[in-house]
Amino acid sequence: MSEKLHERARKARLDTMQRHVLVCTDDDCGGSGVAKALRKAITAHGLRSTVSIAKVDCLDICTKGTIAVVYPEGTWYAGLKPSRVERLVTEHLRDGRVVTDLVFHRNPLAPGCRPPEHPTEP
Ligand code: FES
Repeated sequence: MSEKLHERARKARLDTMQRHVLVCTDDDCGGSGVAKALRKAITAHGLRSTVSIAKVDCLDICTKGTIAVVYPEGTWYAGLKPSRVERLVTEHLRDGRVVTDLVFHRNPLAPGCRPPEHPTEP
């Protein structure tokens, strides 16, 4: 592979990443503010080397936004607002406890990532 590609992978912290958060930033979901707040909180809590945020155009849910999904757990969140980001970052991304009152679906993609209990709809 090219040196440039390896450099980009290093800058993206792919070797240390433990969680990837995809945030819908389509206008219907209004997630731009959520994504910005997520980046700020992740930095504030010293999680930049282990958590990556990706802004995406749509996650095919398109209701009760802002929608986001956290991998590898496959935990789907709805109703996110900048004011709720601190809980997502501290409870889930830092402490590993899903914020159940904001979760509407779970589908882990890897063995061993099963969440502890069923969520309630936000
Ligand atoms: S517009 Fe956000 S999930 Fe489709």
